[in-house]
Amino acid sequence: MSLRPPAFSYTARGALHCESVPIESLARRYGTPLYVYSAAMVRARLKAFATAFHSSPHTICYSVKANSTLAILRLIAKERAGFDVVSGGELERVLRSSPKAASKVVFSGVGKTAQEMELALRSGILLFNVESASELNLLAATATRLKKRARIAVRVNPDVPAKTHPYISTGLHQHKFGVPIPESKNLYAEAATSPYLEVAGVSVHIGSQITDVATFQSALDRAADLVGSLRQQGHNIRYVDAGGGLGINYEGMQDNFEKQIASYARAVLKALRGLNVHLLLEPGRSIVGPAGVLLTRVLYRKTNHSKRFLIVDAAMNDLLRPSLYGAYHEIIPVSGRSRETETTDIVGPICETGDFFARDRKLPVANEGELLAILDAGAYGAVLASNYNTRGRPAEVLVDGARSKLIRRRESLQDQLSREKL
Ligand code: LLP
Repeated sequence: MSLRPPAFSYTARGALHCESVPIESLARRYGTPLYVYSAAMVRARLKAFATAFHSSPHTICYSVKANSTLAILRLIAKERAGFDVVSGGELERVLRSSPKAASKVVFSGVGKTAQEMELALRSGILLFNVESASELNLLAATATRLKKRARIAVRVNPDVPAKTHPYISTGLHQHKFGVPIPESKNLYAEAATSPYLEVAGVSVHIGSQITDVATFQSALDRAADLVGSLRQQGHNIRYVDAGGGLGINYEGMQDNFEKQIASYARAVLKALRGLNVHLLLEPGRSIVGPAGVLLTRVLYRKTNHSKRFLIVDAAMNDLLRPSLYGAYHEIIPVSGRSRETETTDIVGPICETGDFFARDRKLPVANEGELLAILDAGAYGAVLASNYNTRGRPAEVLVDGARSKLIRRRESLQDQLSREKL
C-alpha cells in the first residue's frame, strides 16, 4: 500500500519501505530516533512545482528553514532550485552545499544584521526582502560601504488573514512581518535615491500551512496593484516574490499534490496575469514535509487507571510540532501486519506533560520494542530539534532508490558538552 508516493509504502508482506529500502533495516543500522528522507519525493515535489508554473518565468527558492541539512540542500540545488534564507547561517549552509546557488538566493527576515547583509552582498545574492525602513537604511549604508549593489524588494504586509495556526500566520497588521502597503511606497522612493540599492521587486508571504488557495490570490491581488502603481512612479519592478506557505495534508493517508499545486498555480498566476514579472516562490513544507518520517521505537507500554500510554524513544526535543502547535502527525507501525487497534497516547521520555506526539489516537496495538513511523516530519522536524533533557539530536538518513546515506550523525554527549567549561 502506497502511503506517501513515491516515498513511503508497505510491501505486500506489510513491511514499511522508504523507496526500495526496508525501514526496519535503517533502524537496525542507524538506531532510533532517526529521520528518514526520500530523495525521490523531494525531486517529485520540485518537478510538480515546475510543471504547475511552466507558463510563467519563475524560480523556486526553497525555504531553507524547513529543512536545512546540507545533503538536502545539495539535492535541491541539483534540481536547479534557488533558496530562501533568513539568516547568515542559512546562507552559509547554501554556500557550502552548492556555492553556485548564491545568485538564486532571496534573503528574508525582520532582523538582518549588518554582518549578515555583508555576507549576502559579498556572495552576490539575487534579492533582499526588506521588512522595515530602518533595515533599508542599514542595507543602503552597508551596500555603500562595500560598493556592492543590493537588489531589493519590500516585503509588504497585505493585511490578509490566513486560516492557519496563529503562530505561523504572518500577513496581518498585528504581526511583526512586512510593511503595510501604503507605507511601502515611501520605502521604494527612499531606496531609489541610493546608487547602491536597486529596486527590483515586491514580496509577500502571509503564513504557513495554508490550504485555501484563495488566500494566496487575495494577497497577490494586492501585491499586483502595488506593482502597477510602483511602475507608474517609474520603478522597474521585475520580480514578484509570492513567498511560501502552501499546506500539506497531514491527516489524510494520501494526498493529491498534482491537483493541489495546479490550483495553487492557477490562483497565483491569475493574480499576476499580464504583469510580466519573474515569479519567485519560497515553498518549504510542501517540498520536504511528506518526504520525511521520524522513526521511533516503543520503549514501554503503560496504563494509568484506564489511560493507555506508549512511551517511545523520540521526544518533543526531536520533533516539536505536536507540542508547540498541537500539530497532527499520522503515526503508523513499521510492520503493517494486521492486528487489533487500541486508543492510546504516544509520548516521549521528556519530563513534561506537553511531550506527546498523539493523544487518544486509535492505533494498531504496538508491542514494546516495535518501530513506529511519525509521518510528514521532513519539514520543521530536525531543524527544530534541541538538547532539552540533555538528549542528543537525532541522526538523519537520506534514501535514494535502493541506497541510503547517513547525512547527519547522531549528536553525542561529547558534542553537547564540548562548548561548556567548568
Ligand atoms: N518564506 C517565508 C518568508 C517564511 O517565513 C516561510 C516560513 C516560508 C517562506 C516557507 O513556508 P512554508 O512553505 O514552509 O509554509 N515551524 C512551523 C512553520 C513556520 C513557518 C515559518 N515561515 C511549523 O512547523 O508549522
